[in-house]
Amino acid sequence: MTAHQSNLTSSRISGGVATDRRHDSAHKHVTGEAVYIDDMPEPAGTLHACLGLSTAAHATIRSMDLSAVRSAPGVIDVLTGEDVPGENDISPTGKHDEPVLAVGKVQFFGQPIFAVIAKTREQARRACRLAKVEYDELPAVFDIAGLDPLSDRLVTPGLTLKRGEAAAAIAGAPRSLKGRMAIGGQDHFYLEGHIALAVPGEDHDVTVYSSTQHPSEVQHMVAHALGVPSHAVTVEIRRMGGGFGGKETQSNQFAAIAAIAAKRLGRAVKIRPDRDDDMTATGKRHDFVVDYEVGFDDEGNILGVDFVYAARCGFSSDLSGPVTDRALFHCDNAYFWPAVKAVSAPLYTNTVSNTAFRGFGGPQGMVGAERVIEEVAFAVGKDPLEIRKLNFYDAAGESSGRGVTPYHQPVEDNVVHRIVAELEQSCDYAGRRREIAAFNANSPIVKRGIALTPVKFGISFTATHYNQAGALVHAYTDGSVHLNHGGTEMGQGLYIKVAQVVAEEFQIDIEQVKITATTTGKVPNTSATAASSGSDLNGMAAQNAARQIRDRLTAFAAEKYEVPVEQVVFLPNRVRVGNQEIPFADLVKQAYMARIQLSAAGFYKTPKIHWDRDKGRGHPFYYFAYGAACSEVSIDTLTGEYVVERTDILHETGRSLNRAIDLGQVEGAFIQGMGWLTTEELVWDDKGRLRTHAPSTYKIPLASDRPKIFNVALADWSEAFEPTVHRSKAVGEPPFMLGMAVLHALSDAVASVAEHRVCPRLDAPATPERVLMAVERVRKVASG
Ligand code: MTE
Ligand code: MOS
Repeated sequence: MTAHQSNLTSSRISGGVATDRRHDSAHKHVTGEAVYIDDMPEPAGTLHACLGLSTAAHATIRSMDLSAVRSAPGVIDVLTGEDVPGENDISPTGKHDEPVLAVGKVQFFGQPIFAVIAKTREQARRACRLAKVEYDELPAVFDIAGLDPLSDRLVTPGLTLKRGEAAAAIAGAPRSLKGRMAIGGQDHFYLEGHIALAVPGEDHDVTVYSSTQHPSEVQHMVAHALGVPSHAVTVEIRRMGGGFGGKETQSNQFAAIAAIAAKRLGRAVKIRPDRDDDMTATGKRHDFVVDYEVGFDDEGNILGVDFVYAARCGFSSDLSGPVTDRALFHCDNAYFWPAVKAVSAPLYTNTVSNTAFRGFGGPQGMVGAERVIEEVAFAVGKDPLEIRKLNFYDAAGESSGRGVTPYHQPVEDNVVHRIVAELEQSCDYAGRRREIAAFNANSPIVKRGIALTPVKFGISFTATHYNQAGALVHAYTDGSVHLNHGGTEMGQGLYIKVAQVVAEEFQIDIEQVKITATTTGKVPNTSATAASSGSDLNGMAAQNAARQIRDRLTAFAAEKYEVPVEQVVFLPNRVRVGNQEIPFADLVKQAYMARIQLSAAGFYKTPKIHWDRDKGRGHPFYYFAYGAACSEVSIDTLTGEYVVERTDILHETGRSLNRAIDLGQVEGAFIQGMGWLTTEELVWDDKGRLRTHAPSTYKIPLASDRPKIFNVALADWSEAFEPTVHRSKAVGEPPFMLGMAVLHALSDAVASVAEHRVCPRLDAPATPERVLMAVERVRKVASG
């Protein structure tokens, strides 16, 4: 029997929704056959660009002598900000505060001030070093810890969320406390760094291959910088080797420089910074300082909280407004604050401009919430898990009035109670808590700790207009299908998920669906692939496009075979029309002969959502995604070193489109979140120079750092509360925050050195140094 025949009688297509398929490119990722931009054949005569970076953090440029650069071997051209033909700006929010190349003044150490274009990449890099730039230094501010969040300079306006009277609730509470927590930033450490290849065309045209999560924005930025209409610029990306938010806005600069040089010189130009330059010159996760005050009773019921979330934004606004907003949207995590006030302070500093990173401020918001829980638990002498459960939002459906967020959106789909209860059981939290106590009693140096932390994460872009997507689907006369949509592939498995949706709609095997590179020429005005909404939005848009074609095929078949439309049924790889079955490809061919349009543009916009930022009120999220993690660690109290002994995770993905992909997302996100809160530390020196700009000094988790026992389960009973694509849920970011369990387990282990009488107040990242200092501090405080 041939494959073709078997397909025609099978009862299920291969690769429809809810099948667990490996990533469409998995085999190509591991064999090296997957084509990234640097793997593409270079057009003849391709030139290479390198950025010249400032060596002062805040200064006016007194003089810039580039003569040695220009005369260096292989150099074809040198660009400065004066050479930008259009507007010298790539600020994504239209604030005009981020030049392509700085002119006259620099605002952080490592800011691009010129670009060298040479015959080879090596020649461009060498020539860069020959610049002679003199600076007149200006006062610079690097850290936010010393700044007053309410009066110092904001890079963009802050947000206030308010429900009830927090100050009165705290003042009237039987007990209260206040504290401060520092939460570090994070480098994206995508395996493929930034890269752009610009190929000039005729007239004003240019095609830019850009490693970007946001092709439409790159298109618009390149057009602005060139001073040409958007129609002249096409941006294409087949895949990124990781983005994690770091390629949401940060790709603009590289694309703009490559495009400007390509149009100026009439040759293809590629720019691929090395890792050190990439880490120095591109934005990262915002580090925060959170000030909190909380009122509570002797049981540990929280009565009121007051938060100030100050963030180091760097020199430009970039996405700092929305990132700090999302931090506030998560200052509750899964907890009901009866009275709450939360204020964000996105602060200007002379450091690289911070940007999107998985969770987009949400993780920092939640870490603040979990610190408050931990403080209260220590204050009343209870297990933090007990305090967590005591303060959860109402279970879904209940209406005791404990189900409204600080931004006045009701929590209608709450499953955190069930997730936490199931995980607590399956990982034997109570039993292991007793074993750990016994272990610690007999182990003077190595101490163990455990923590179980929940996650509730809001799904949707908080800028309502971004919640739209488009897709383009063609059926060819041989029955094969071409699929394009506005989402980008960065390893997260978006392409295969959307292809599964289309295969399901037509009832054809997924092998019949070709996933094609994202390009602004096929689907316009797209949003960044971000906010975990890639498959929710693009899956729906592609489904809509496929449905249009299917509906036309149905109408055509009904008319041609003179049956009612109800008697046209799409079966696996065939269509039943009345009492006969026609192979899908044959029906498509017949429709073509009858001049039926076999191409459709699909569209989707998320319903229900709205948000009034000035009032701090609305329904910014379509739904929430929930999960929980329990981690156990052991620390060496003489060195601060630690090991993650075990982690158990229960995370909900709704009716997963693809559990294999989702499992990978949950595992990877947890590890990345754990890295953020433990070993990944960014250090700037007193000149504002980033000293951790390579893997030698910046420690991401290794395979050997993963939990020794790692049990990950998807909550297979969960189903999206709202009609999402096939009732699946977004999974890209929410599990990142499961990494909090490790931070709190470390804290628990530290606290054991003084019988849990002192809250360790462990800042993040909890590096071994910080764990050691916390051990010593806890001992000191406990001994009076
Ligand atoms: N997974 C991989 N492998 N690589 C990535 O760069 N980015 C994360 C997440 N998972 C990322 C990833 C981030 S920050 C987001 S917002 C989502 O994927 C975006 O994709 P999605 O909306 O399709 O989930
Ligand atoms: Mo993800 S930070 O929304 O790109």
